[in-house]
This record gives sequence, structure tokens and C-alpha cells, in this order.
Amino acid sequence: MSIRTILAVETSCDETSAAILRGERELLGHVIATQDLHSEFGGVVPEIASRAQLAVIDRVVERTLGEAGVTLAEIDAFAVTAGPGLIGSLLVGLNWIKAAAYSLGRPFIGVHHMEAHVFAAALEYEEADPPFVATLVSGGHTLILFVEDWGRYRILGATRDDAAGEAFDKTARLLGLGYPGGPAVERMAREGDPGRHPFPVAMIRRGGRPGDDDYYDMSFSGLKTAVLLRVRELEASRQLGDEVAHLCASFQRAAVEQIAEKTARAVRAYGSKRVVLGGGVARNAALADGVRSRLGPEVSVFVPQPRLATDNAAMVARAARFRLDRGERGDLDLNARADLPWPGLL
Ligand code: KG4
Ligand code: ZN
Repeated sequence: MSIRTILAVETSCDETSAAILRGERELLGHVIATQDLHSEFGGVVPEIASRAQLAVIDRVVERTLGEAGVTLAEIDAFAVTAGPGLIGSLLVGLNWIKAAAYSLGRPFIGVHHMEAHVFAAALEYEEADPPFVATLVSGGHTLILFVEDWGRYRILGATRDDAAGEAFDKTARLLGLGYPGGPAVERMAREGDPGRHPFPVAMIRRGGRPGDDDYYDMSFSGLKTAVLLRVRELEASRQLGDEVAHLCASFQRAAVEQIAEKTARAVRAYGSKRVVLGGGVARNAALADGVRSRLGPEVSVFVPQPRLATDNAAMVARAARFRLDRGERGDLDLNARADLPWPGLL
């Protein structure tokens, strides 16, 4: 039987999401429930996250089916994020999907969370097709890949310390802007002068070459410390209140500069004409602008719409479509893995 309709679930962190995809791009239903339980802790608390996943998964899937106007029995195949992620959260989605697939006698597949981010832009843009450079920036990951083809990935660089989104979150926390910090920092940055506090752009050694082991890698902990030191100075001189927007703008500029420069290096080295952004930080308009202006008009930059950039089940369904169409199937022994390795690494 050919697979037309896929139901996917994503529960790797603090979002509970379900999506129903027909063909390659037709999203019949898509629901994302975000937990509002973690802000007082300034980050995701794993035990709270998995309990909350369990509490809402049934309703999220039901609402998705309702939106799509289909019943569970009409689903041809199931898909779920199998890792990487928080193990307790992953297991909620995995067990739900395995039970559905088993009871209905339908195939299912486990998907790699980061591979799903690579597929997100392809849900909207037919041209977001390999070969391309993918820059994935989220709260948990910061990666630059060359996507030679679907399923053939070369990891070029990663962060050596904090993830890009973590740097936004920590900066926001330092400035009392709440969690998640990325959207708050971006909002404040619009009112600020990015040149006011010239923070260093990390990992940009002059004369570096593609063979160097730091050529594509990134680092955000030095930037975080530079912001912290500046905040202390401003606090001591009672000037912090006036500087918050400028600090946000200056931090954002340094973070964007680094991501854009590393992306541009990959584009040059691989002669790529396309770039795909993904992950929560790809919601940041200054990042998309920074990457576009660095690359110029010859390179097309595909940025998923905000709800497809952050964690969502639609991208999982799209990645599953590729793997299921190749004949891959999960079996009931499949386990969730916090550190699931990438499939198809070159
Ligand atoms: O992909 P995602 O939803 O979850 C994972 O981490 O996998 O990414 C969440 C991250 C958070 O760190 C959040 O602060 C960041 O994405 N983020 C942003 C923006 N919106 C979300 N960072 C910068 N600017 C934004 N507008
Ligand atoms: Zn993610």
C-alpha cells in the first residue's frame, strides 16, 4: 500500500506537537502545545517536561486529527522523534506512536530530531532541495552542515560550548527579560544601537582555511561573559536601566555576525547556491537579514516560517516521508536515545 497520509509526533523537549502530512507539503493538521511551566527556572526542567508531555499528548493528537478532518484509522503511517532530546519526553511520543502503529497494523518510523530541522524549509519551499548548506541554531544545538543530498550529511562545524539559543536565553535572564529569551532579546534589540557595546565576535581567526579544525566551529560562552562583565560595570555605575536595549542589540549583532560568517565560509567552500536555516533562533529576523546580506543575491536563503523553525511535528512528518518512501521502517524494539547519532553521515 502506498503511504499518502503520515501522522507525526514530536516530544523531544518542552513542545508537544502533532502533524498530519499528505504528500510532501500538504499539512492537513498541525498543533504545537508549548509548556509555560519552565520560565521560573530559566530553562527546561526535564522531569516537569516529561510529565507535562504525558498530560497533553492525547489532546494534541486529537486536535490535530480534528483539524485535518481525518480519523486515526485513515492514517497510512506513523512517525516520531526518536532522539536526540530529553529521554523522558522522547519516550512519551515514542510509546504513543508505537501503540498507535501496533494497534492499527500500520508502519512507523523513528526520526532524528536534527534531520527533521533540515527538512523544515522543504515543507514550504520546493527549491529548498539539496545540495545546500544548513545552519541549525536552537536552544540545544548549533550546527553547520553540508547537505549533499537528502540523507547524506556532512557536519562541518558545531558550537564548542553554549548553543546559540542558550546564549540568547542567558543574556535575557541576565537582563531580567524572562524565558525563553530569544524573542525578548530580539524585541528589545530593535530599540537599541548595535554599535554601542562592541562585543567580540568569536572564532573568527584571520587567514583561517577550511582544513583548520576551528574554521566552521562556533563559541558563545565568551560573548555571554563579555555581556555579564558589561552588565556588572553598568550596574555599579547605575546605568544599566538605560542600556538594556543597547546591550541586546550589541549582543545580537555579535551572535549574528558569527553565525553568518561561519555559514558564508561553508557556502564558499562548497560552492553552494542555497542555504537553509532551522531551529528556534532562525525565527530571529536579524539573523536571516545578516545571513542574506553576507551572502549576497546569488545565494538563496530559505527560512522556515516561525512555527516550522522551532520544534514541531510537521518537520518530523516531512523527514519521515523521505525515509518511509525509501522503504525504511521502525520496529517495536526501537528505543528513544538522548544521543541518537545522525543517520547518513558522510
Ligand atoms: O528549536 P527550539 O524550539 O528548541 C530546541 O532548542 O531544540 O529552539 C528554542 C530556542 C530558545 O533558546 C529560544 O530562545 C530561541 O530558540 N529563539 C530565539 C528566537 N525565538 C526563539 N532566539 C533568537 N531570536 C528569536 N526570535
Ligand atoms: Zn529542535
